[in-house]
Amino acid sequence: MARAILLRDVRRLDPVAALDDRVDVLLEDGVIRRAGRGAGDSLVGQSGVQVVEGAGRWLLPGFVDLHVHFREPGEEHKEDIASGLRAAVAGGFVAVCAMANTKPVNDVRAITEMMVARGREAALARLHPIGAVTKGLLGQELTEVADLRDAGAVAISDDGRCVTNSLVMRRALEYARTFDVPVIQHAEDHALTEGADMHEGAVSTRLGLRGWPRTAEDIIIARDCILAEAARARYHVAHLSTKGAARLVAEAKGRGIAVTAEVTPHHLLLTDEAIAEGFGYRTACKVNPPLREAEDVAALRRALADGTIDAIATDHAPHHATDKEVEFSAARPGMIGLEICVPLLLDLVRTGELPLMRLVYALTAGPAKVVGIDVPRAIEGARADLVLIEPEATFRIERATLASKSTNTPFLGREVRGAVDATFVGGRLVHVRHGSHGLHGISNS
Ligand code: DOR
Repeated sequence: MARAILLRDVRRLDPVAALDDRVDVLLEDGVIRRAGRGAGDSLVGQSGVQVVEGAGRWLLPGFVDLHVHFREPGEEHKEDIASGLRAAVAGGFVAVCAMANTKPVNDVRAITEMMVARGREAALARLHPIGAVTKGLLGQELTEVADLRDAGAVAISDDGRCVTNSLVMRRALEYARTFDVPVIQHAEDHALTEGADMHEGAVSTRLGLRGWPRTAEDIIIARDCILAEAARARYHVAHLSTKGAARLVAEAKGRGIAVTAEVTPHHLLLTDEAIAEGFGYRTACKVNPPLREAEDVAALRRALADGTIDAIATDHAPHHATDKEVEFSAARPGMIGLEICVPLLLDLVRTGELPLMRLVYALTAGPAKVVGIDVPRAIEGARADLVLIEPEATFRIERATLASKSTNTPFLGREVRGAVDATFVGGRLVHVRHGSHGLHGISNS
């Protein structure tokens, strides 16, 4: 058994310290013991030290996902906590926040505790539950936030449903502020989206599907910013999808309101046209909020690059074939995202639209700060929550190689460049990519 792992000659990035250098990194006792040029020279050949030749691979702080749906309890055939966490580490994530729309809903302490316990048993990525804002996600009666927080919840959200009642939202913000947790809003005015299947625009008209206007999202964000300012509470907007939402968040931040926001890979990469491709009515592209138009995608990319958007979150939403291989209106919304997030988004780095450092920030410190968990770092002394990326490796996204129990993604068959080679949590190697070069020999210390 190796005592320590030496990663030789890696390109190390740490956005918090603005570090981008070529170093050797020694992992020992769960922490980064040493990091520096030539730091490993004297250790090569020593017993108990496993050497991995990085050969310029990237070593980044491990990723944090603010928004995943693991279907335990209730729909474990789609994803359970263990399979979800396997997908997480395969995507380079060392911490994930699991939404409350389980069955039953995570609105009481016992469920939060169960999720935390299952996460610990899996011993892969760290699992941080998000408790519900209202009992049963029904939008009426607040949950016991103190209880949920004490059991391990890092935020509250009714995600999947919007807290539409202004009084309930006001009380939720005030209550959450007392316990210093953010309220994460799924911004959707349900009165405007009743029966809607996709974004309202030329494509919905062409396909004859009921449209979902941008205003349904923007109205809620505008109202919530006013409520958050009055309550002096932390308010976070889930899965931004419209250009108006990006503008509203920028304005609120400019006024000093404690608002933060996330965006998903699919809202950064796809438009509503994707639904019409091929024979059309592609249920893999049905998602909530819906895929929008090119001008929204452009605004979201800009907002991510300029820091208006704090975090990239996958909204990993596993569904079974029986939820997707049905007519469009009957299909459930959502797509999986954990394992393909970074390989897909590296395209935006290569086209020059998103600086690599900004991408890494939005996957690490950005989301960690929203919920107040430890910020993964790639510096000496930090806990070894790390990811090793082979930026030039290419692979095809295929059902057979996904760790998730579900395969509902429109990106199946896509050839991508950039692969997660290895993930470390607390210095333990929790994932190695099949076929990655030079890593087969390494094992946990
Ligand atoms: O597409 C989505 N799927 N959006 C949500 O808000 C919920 C999620 C789910 O739970 O499937």
